[in-house]
Amino acid sequence: LMMPAALHVGVTLHFAGPAGGAELDFMKKVCDQWAQKTGNKVELISRPNDTTQALQTFQQYWSAKSGDVDIYQVDVIWQGICAPHAVDLKKYYKEDELSQYFPRIIENNTVKGKLVSIPLFTDAGILYYRTDLLQKYGYSAPPKTWEELTEMAKKIMDGERKDGKSDFYGFVFQGKSSETVTCDALEWVYSYGGGTIIEPDKKVSINNPNAIKALEEAHSWVGTIAPSGVVTYDEEPARNIWQDGKAAFMRNWPYAYALGQDPKSPISGKFDVTILPKGPGADGKNAACLGGWQLMVSAYSKNADVAADLVKYLSSPEIQKQRAIELSELPTRPSLYSDSDILAKNGWFKNIPDVLQHAVARPSTVTGADYNQISTAFFQN
Ligand code: GLC
Repeated sequence: LMMPAALHVGVTLHFAGPAGGAELDFMKKVCDQWAQKTGNKVELISRPNDTTQALQTFQQYWSAKSGDVDIYQVDVIWQGICAPHAVDLKKYYKEDELSQYFPRIIENNTVKGKLVSIPLFTDAGILYYRTDLLQKYGYSAPPKTWEELTEMAKKIMDGERKDGKSDFYGFVFQGKSSETVTCDALEWVYSYGGGTIIEPDKKVSINNPNAIKALEEAHSWVGTIAPSGVVTYDEEPARNIWQDGKAAFMRNWPYAYALGQDPKSPISGKFDVTILPKGPGADGKNAACLGGWQLMVSAYSKNADVAADLVKYLSSPEIQKQRAIELSELPTRPSLYSDSDILAKNGWFKNIPDVLQHAVARPSTVTGADYNQISTAFFQN
C-alpha cells in the first residue's frame, strides 16, 4: 500500500477533515499512522459541523487561492463547485485501482474529465426504529409507508407519555434550514413520486401535486409527533434525543448506528435500522438520499504529491474497513460489503445494497457549480 511514500519526508500537511466527534478522533488516529510510516506530519483543521457553513468556510480558502489547506474532506454534492480548486487525482491512480470504487461515485466526482476527489465513505438516509417499543405496542414490523409511520409514532408517543415520559417523541429528523433538510425533504418528495426538484434534463419539477402532498405531510409532523424544535435540528440534535431514548423513530445517516449501539448508550441493543418508508399509493416508492464524503487535494497546495499519498491511504481498503467497523460508515468499495469482519459488527450492511438501489441523488450533477444556490432556495422555503 505505502508506495513511494518515502519520496518526501518532513512535510506537514494541513487537512480540513471531519467536524468533530468520533469521526475526528478516528481521522486523527489514522492520519498519525500514516505520518509515522512516512515521516511526515498531519494537522487537522477544524470546520463547522453544518455542511452549508462548512462550504462557506472552504470557499473563503478557495477564493483566496490559499495554500494553507492541502486536503479537504468534501461533500458528494460539491463536485462542480470544487472542480476549479482541485488537483486532478487521475494521475495518482491506475485504472484498476479506480475500478474498485463504486463507478457511480467516481462518475459523480469526475467533472469535465477531471477527477476532483476520491470517495472516502458513502451515505444514505435510513430509518432507525426502537425494536423494544414496537414490540410493546404490538407491531411486528417497522412502517412501510409514511402514513403508517405517522400512526405508529403517535400511538407509541401517546403511550410513553401516559407512562410518565413527558418529553418522549414519535419521530425526529433533520428540519434545519440548511443542506441537511434538503436531504430529508428530497426523500419525502421523491418517495411521494414528486421528483428530484430539478430533473436530470434540467427541467424544474418541484411544483407538482405529489411534492406538495409530501411537504404537507412532513409539515403536519412538526409539533405533533416531532418536537416543534425539529425545524432547528440537523443530524446531531436529532441523534441526541434518539440516543437518550426519547424518540420511537429517527431519520439519520448510518453513523448514528455505531454510536447508538455503544455499550454506554441507553438504547444499545434496543433498535434496528431499515429502509425509509414509501409515499402513498401507486406513485409511492422508497427513497434514500445519497450523501457521502470525498477527499480532494487543493490545487493551491505546495505538497500535492504527499497529500495525494495520504488521500490514497485514507481511502484504502484497510482504512475503509476499519472505518466501517468503528464508525459504521459505508465503504465506497463494493467488495467490502461482503467482508466478514464488517458484517460481524454491522450485520445490517447486508441490506445496504438494497437501500442504495433506492438511492436518490440531489440535483448536483445537473446544476454543477450552481448547486448551492438551488439547494439554498429549496431549504429556505
Ligand atoms: C451527510 C451527508 C452529506 C449531506 C449532509 C447534510 O453528511 O453525507 O452528503 O450533505 O449530511 O447534512
